[in-house]
Amino acid sequence: MAETTTTKETEVIGVVGGGQMGSGIAQVAAVSGFDVWLHDTDPAALDRAVRAVSSSIGRFVSKGKLSRAAGSDAMKRLRCTSNLEDLRDADVIIEAIVESEEVKKTLFSKLDKIAKATTILASNTSSISITRLASGTSRPSQVIGMHFMNPPPLMKLIEIVRGADTSDEVFLKIKDLSERMGKIVVCSQDYPGFIVNRILMPMINEAFHTLYTGVATKEDIDTAMKLGTNHPMGPLELADLIGLDVCLNIMKVLYEGFGDSKYSPCPLLVQYVDAGRLGRKRGIGVYSYE
Ligand code: CAA
Ligand code: NAD
Repeated sequence: MAETTTTKETEVIGVVGGGQMGSGIAQVAAVSGFDVWLHDTDPAALDRAVRAVSSSIGRFVSKGKLSRAAGSDAMKRLRCTSNLEDLRDADVIIEAIVESEEVKKTLFSKLDKIAKATTILASNTSSISITRLASGTSRPSQVIGMHFMNPPPLMKLIEIVRGADTSDEVFLKIKDLSERMGKIVVCSQDYPGFIVNRILMPMINEAFHTLYTGVATKEDIDTAMKLGTNHPMGPLELADLIGLDVCLNIMKVLYEGFGDSKYSPCPLLVQYVDAGRLGRKRGIGVYSYE
């Protein structure tokens, strides 16, 4: 693979969306030495993001995995804004807003107008076509998927997704950036769900079917998968961590993208989302956290 000469070109990172993924990505970038602008349309989300980053950094410091000075420097490198235009000087902008193609496309077209001509626009989407997100911009060769896993400060993987027009140079820059963040990279072609969610989400959906059809209790389903297959969390607990709305949106992308009934979302998953039982972030999902 050709060597990139661009290692030091990326110094300012913009992150759009300050929810559980965006705040974690901003934390990883700041701890890795980048200046970070974190944007969310909701000021309350930015407050929650700063509290989450501070608490997570505090946990790393108290375990001796990060020095107090490095933690405090990272907090100083993180700036929050509800004005998208503040991201105009970013070298790379990583989008982590709601998993909706329409909403993401609108954002990408705004970012295309705001960002420098050289800026790379990356998406943390779990499943949506990078090629389609890129098509609404004037720079499809500079649009790429940079898919962090939840929780970003702890999970080692970044799945890089190349759209139909993503250039080799942009791929190499994002691979280099991911490695500077201490992550290990895999590369996926641009098909629904990429690698991780193509395999993980049907398993989670099947766990909902197993519960829905009364095969076992939620606790026994999760215990079976934790102790029976050595997964760190059971599939229903993991769905609560990811967010049931995110899981449902990914299943819809798989179902629509492949047109195969095996990806049809479980009615119980749909019902929980309809009821606002979105998982840990709402205090209730499959389990209650109150
Ligand atoms: N910040 C800093 N440290 C944290 C932390 C945080 N946010 N959360 C947990 N930790 C630390 C704890 O302090 C603890 O550290 P030590 O091991 O040094 O004591 C360690 O992490 C374990 O914490 P917990 O005991 O609270 O929890 P755990 O043992 O269950 O580990 C976990 C947490 C890493 C999340 C683990 O349960 C796990 O790996 N779960 C599976 C996660 C997973 O599969 N993620 C991918 C989801 S799919 C995806 O992301 C893609 C998509 O598009 C949907
Ligand atoms: P979340 O609901 O926790 O956060 C989304 C944030 O985006 C919210 O704070 C919201 O206010 C903000 N937002 C919405 N529209 C916006 C806009 N137009 N401009 C600026 N901010 C906006 O969601 P999340 O779980 O962090 O997921 C974000 C993205 O990351 C999704 O694409 C999701 O598929 C992907 N992802 C999620 C996980 C996961 O486990 N949750 C893992 C990997 C990837």
